[in-house]
Amino acid sequence: MSLYLNNAATSWPKPRAVAEEMSNFILNAGANLGRGSASDRDVRTLGLVADARAKIAALFDGHSDRDPRYVTFTSNVTEALNVVIKGFLRPGMTVLTSSMEHNAVIRPLRSLERRGVKVIVMRCDRNGFLSPSFFEEEIKKHRPNLIVLNHASNVCGAIQDIEALCGTCIDYGLPVVIDAAQTAGHLPISVSKRGIAALCFTGHKGLLGPQGTGGIVWRPDFAEAVSPVIEGGTGSFSHEEVQPDKLPDKFESGTLNLPGIAGLSAAIDWIEARGIKNIAEKSNRLGEKLLDGLLGMPEAILYGPKTMAGRLPVFAFNVKGWDNAELAFKLNDRWKIETRPGLHCAPLAHRTLGTFPEGALRVSPGPFNEEEDIEFFLNALSELVKDSGE
Ligand SMILES: Cc1ncc(COP(=O)(O)O)c(C=O)c1O
Repeated sequence: MSLYLNNAATSWPKPRAVAEEMSNFILNAGANLGRGSASDRDVRTLGLVADARAKIAALFDGHSDRDPRYVTFTSNVTEALNVVIKGFLRPGMTVLTSSMEHNAVIRPLRSLERRGVKVIVMRCDRNGFLSPSFFEEEIKKHRPNLIVLNHASNVCGAIQDIEALCGTCIDYGLPVVIDAAQTAGHLPISVSKRGIAALCFTGHKGLLGPQGTGGIVWRPDFAEAVSPVIEGGTGSFSHEEVQPDKLPDKFESGTLNLPGIAGLSAAIDWIEARGIKNIAEKSNRLGEKLLDGLLGMPEAILYGPKTMAGRLPVFAFNVKGWDNAELAFKLNDRWKIETRPGLHCAPLAHRTLGTFPEGALRVSPGPFNEEEDIEFFLNALSELVKDSGE
């Protein structure tokens, strides 16, 4: 048996119902969406997608009274971010972002920079936090058209003060796009309360759904201001040669990942039945234990916040005298413990934390881990560290 501690990459295992609902969809429904003859299977498929959309609008407390039309399905958060960023920014515009972003944000922005978009990267502190007062100064200085911010770091777990940061965006009338890859399913998020213009999420991490799912929860006026980057068949308005501007069709061309949406819908049911707060409480308990263990190990250098306040249970560290890839290899080889070394697709975040180019070892427990797993990991790590000293 292996011990999986790489939930920041993708959560595993998934609730059993996720696999069951995916299989059930393929075996028993399996129609395409809006591309049939109103058969029973067509109607079931339509109902399944409508239901999933409504659950997501409710989970993130969407705008316009949780109107499900403002939920767009994508294949992951990377696609969601590309759709929003590339559909909104035009040459001559300015975008503000943070130095803790994943390449899912930085790469599309760097590509737009070559086409005349001004990209300003705001420096976060050594623990990965963006200061709200510095953020406001940067807004006054650069007068941006768009803000794109990471909600919580996939490297060191630092959670940004979204309440203060989004509040400032409202004060200045600026649209803010949030990359909630690491927080969706871990933290309660209210898109409408925070005035978020577009919340981008992935389905396969904290939401416990299958890979190949994700999406956007839009503020209606912002959805109007964004042009679709992918156009094509929507199963609707088929007499028109131009892309419909009605949501959700505007941003959903081509066949959706319907088995994935069935799985994601089951995963959200699983989360709702237990409550995000209860799931997070357990994760934070495990996080506390990991944090204590790592802080108590003199050879370990932990990056990011040193308490569970303001962080997710996502830990990046190095061990003196060890290459983090070698450490990951040995943990897997000797104890079948799965972690992730390196740069985590976030070179800029590692530069901010002072761990570029060597990166760090990342350990991220999930809702199916128990305290014994953390003890097992900490014992294995101590043993390895002891070996290196001999
Ligand atoms: C903060 C952050 N943004 C974006 C991504 C990209 O996620 P996906 O591969 O699901 O598109 C990740 C995944 O590691 C992430 O942690």
